[in-house]
Amino acid sequence: MADVMIAPSILGCDQGNLSEEALKLQQAGADMIHLDVMDGVFVPVLTMGAGIAESISRKVDIPVDAHLMVQRPSGLIQAFVDAGCSYVTVHAEVAPHLDRLLAQIRSAGARAGVAVNPSTPVDFLRWVAPAVDLVLIMMVNPGYGGQKHMGYLHGKISESRSILDSNGGKNALISVDGGVTDVNARQLVSAGADILVSGSFITVSADPAAAIEKLR
Ligand code: DX5
Ligand code: ZN
Repeated sequence: MADVMIAPSILGCDQGNLSEEALKLQQAGADMIHLDVMDGVFVPVLTMGAGIAESISRKVDIPVDAHLMVQRPSGLIQAFVDAGCSYVTVHAEVAPHLDRLLAQIRSAGARAGVAVNPSTPVDFLRWVAPAVDLVLIMMVNPGYGGQKHMGYLHGKISESRSILDSNGGKNALISVDGGVTDVNARQLVSAGADILVSGSFITVSADPAAAIEKLR
């Protein structure tokens, strides 16, 4: 399990103090910071815009990964790249022209991610594999932290890996998001996860450094 990257989500942190919270997570051993960007349309909740992403990415030295849970990502991509996000991830469910959107992220200057909801099949990856740098497999329905991990979705990890590998996407990383704890981390990594996104397990913990270590 040595090589897995841990990406804490700051969704449950003090929302008035996010850049300090992100810095604390970096000091606790995080490899990346995961930003949950919600528009109140694709998911009911409204969170942050690119201005906050910029304060956070200026504060930390590790990569920042923007998970856009928004209905119309196209007009926001450049702003999140300019804000310093290394990865920008859009949801497959809102992208009829996914190939174009992924190309837009790369040409804006970031790595291109695609997220899939629990009920979204991953076979489409066959047709976009060379255009993808990261696949974010949701283990909960997006919108809230602290939800129950849907373990029966683990099969999507190995399925995605093999589709990517056989279609020109060998370098794409697989990230998993939703209810990730020390109880399921090992299984997720054995199934092929390269990045574990974890919110409440780390941020509710009295000792975030120990929680991050437990996930490795
Ligand atoms: C769900 C978000 C996740 C989530 C992580 O909409 O994308 O990043 O908040 O939090 P936990 O680990 O608490 O599920
Ligand atoms: Zn997320």
